[in-house]
Amino acid sequence: MSIERILVIGAGTMGRQIAMAAALAGYETTLNDIAENALDAARTELEGWLASRVTKGKLSADEAKAAIRRLVTSADLSTSATTADLVIEAAVEKLEIKQQIFKQLGQLTPPHAILTTNSSTLASSHVAQASGRPAQVCNMHFFNPALVMKCVEVVRNQHTSDHTVEKVMEVVRRLGKEPVLVHKEIPGFVANRIMGAMQREALDLAAAGVASIPDIDTTARTALGHPMGPFELMDLVGLDVIDFIAQATYAETGDEADKPHELIKLKVSDGHLGRKTGSGFYDY
Ligand SMILES: NC(=O)c1ccc[n+]([C@@H]2O[C@H](COP(=O)([O-])OP(=O)(O)OC[C@H]3O[C@@H](n4cnc5c(N)ncnc54)[C@H](O)[C@@H]3O)[C@@H](O)[C@H]2O)c1
Repeated sequence: MSIERILVIGAGTMGRQIAMAAALAGYETTLNDIAENALDAARTELEGWLASRVTKGKLSADEAKAAIRRLVTSADLSTSATTADLVIEAAVEKLEIKQQIFKQLGQLTPPHAILTTNSSTLASSHVAQASGRPAQVCNMHFFNPALVMKCVEVVRNQHTSDHTVEKVMEVVRRLGKEPVLVHKEIPGFVANRIMGAMQREALDLAAAGVASIPDIDTTARTALGHPMGPFELMDLVGLDVIDFIAQATYAETGDEADKPHELIKLKVSDGHLGRKTGSGFYDY
């Protein structure tokens, strides 16, 4: 069974861009959200993005039109799920909501459909049983911004079949992205574990007074070739998000090293959440 129709659930930061990547790659794509205003905002943003690609000469007007034609938005899961070959769930990061969605998907999608979650912190085994077809479930973890970032981590759970993995990897390649197969469910998968370890070290160095925050960032950029320093990146992601990820990881591993860092907790309790609040490790 070849995958031709993709359903993306959740039209927020991630879902809307994943859906556009799918439509551009030639898939008949439906973007679903319970909030009509999220769907409207997604359509406006994506049409603006396509127009700017055309203006810059990166996409032809015909390609842009075809992508718009292939992308349908819908707030009605019960109809959009019935024709999906692959679902990419990118709804809000709440376990009960995701379990409810996977239960519905198990009832609504055709029996061959593969069901994936884009969750960064919830491994697919948390939702696989609710779907009633755990062999056809895995994580398909995109990075932000999903239209730009090449990596997609494909994380199998203990029940995921080889066929499911192969099909999902195939889709990732057709999206023009680079699939990375993660064989074990582990908090943070691969990329966020590497990033978390670097952030922890940077926070420890700053807390111990080894070097200033700007100097640590400068080192990461000029010695290691990172596009931005760890503190600049944490400010961009949001210090509340960094704190939330650490809490979720610590709850799962119980490893003291994964505990939210004191420096982050201080910033969060003072309301300095990074760029979005105008101050974090830096002022904006
Ligand atoms: N933001 C990131 O940088 C990032 C990166 C990788 C993965 N993720 C993962 O992607 C998922 C979505 O994150 P986001 O940042 O796009 O969130 P977001 O808050 O921007 O969007 C979530 C959307 O889900 C919708 N939603 C809530 N309940 C729903 C339901 N029952 N059915 C359909 N839609 C529903 C909301 O209306 C909202 O539009 C999360 O699982 C997150 O872990 C996020």
